[in-house]
Amino acid sequence: MAKKYKTALVTGGAGFIGSHIVDALIRRRIKVYVIDDMSSGQKKNINPNAHFTKMSILNPAFPKFLRRIKPDVVFHLAAQINLRQSVIDPPADARVNIMGTLTLAHLAGEIGVKKIIFSSSGGAMYPDGAKIPYSEKTPPGPISPYGISKRSGEMYLNFAYQVHGVPYVALRYSNVYGPRQNSKGEAGVVSIFAEGMLRGDDLAISGTGKQTRDFVFVGDVVRANMLAMRKNVVGEFNIGTGKETNINNLFKKIKKITGYKIKVEKSPAPSGEVMRSVLNSSKAKKVLGWEPKVGLEKGLEKTVRWFEKRK
Ligand SMILES: NC(=O)c1ccc[n+]([C@@H]2O[C@H](COP(=O)([O-])OP(=O)(O)OC[C@H]3O[C@@H](n4cnc5c(N)ncnc54)[C@H](O)[C@@H]3O)[C@@H](O)[C@H]2O)c1
Repeated sequence: MAKKYKTALVTGGAGFIGSHIVDALIRRRIKVYVIDDMSSGQKKNINPNAHFTKMSILNPAFPKFLRRIKPDVVFHLAAQINLRQSVIDPPADARVNIMGTLTLAHLAGEIGVKKIIFSSSGGAMYPDGAKIPYSEKTPPGPISPYGISKRSGEMYLNFAYQVHGVPYVALRYSNVYGPRQNSKGEAGVVSIFAEGMLRGDDLAISGTGKQTRDFVFVGDVVRANMLAMRKNVVGEFNIGTGKETNINNLFKKIKKITGYKIKVEKSPAPSGEVMRSVLNSSKAKKVLGWEPKVGLEKGLEKTVRWFEKRK
């Protein structure tokens, strides 16, 4: 690759997906700055070759920091990621996800950012009841404050593109899983099951377990980010596998890998839980040349092995 980008900033680069993006950029010999407030990020995730600053994107010093480092490309992942928390406290979600993204979008033109790659959400973007699998042609209809804030982020980035000429790509992920995913709080179900089974905890499946999700491996998500950086494209792209897996089946697959023996309980489903979610990513295939490469069995195996080593 011609060295179009020499420096990158990864916001949320101490987190699950962000830290893998940092590693991929460093492998490509790009100078990487990481900013993370460590609200859920972990020091051990941060590549030692990255330049790390512990700071919130809401810190009044953030614009000064941006002006100083002047990154060529920004991967924007720092976010309030908890959908249920966004329902409990929408203003707190909006502060990080809307105001944080707007601060970045607003300054990007001034400091000469050449591209912004935004981690958006496919799961929270489309209205329940729309035709499945959701494509980018499905009109967005987020109902949760988290989905609304992610859509707002996309729209502010589009504003920065239209008015200040800063290209952006918004990657709307399905359910991302893999090594380094946090199993605390409302984390990914894969990490909760994998870690819980390895520890021999009693585990529960919420509701009937028939609710489906589209599980995409973090390595595939990182490749989507690299392609989004490299290709001369702008706009929104779904990043998912197009395959629906229900939670009962997911549980069985992880059980097989870990050798878990304890009988699973059922817990009440949270109200308003989405029953089906799956993304059509044919636009990403056509325009970015992206396709998922890691199948669910292989990805789960890699994830379990990682949690095992970490025990
Ligand atoms: N994991 C998924 O399935 C998924 C799906 C769709 C979208 N996303 C998006 O991908 C991005 C990364 O998610 P993740 O799963 O890696 O979660 P994560 O919690 O591991 O990563 C988020 C990182 O951002 C940091 N952060 C939070 N608020 C901050 C602030 N105000 N200033 C600076 N840093 C801050 C956290 O400390 C953390 O390191 C998020 O934007 C999330 O909304 C994730």
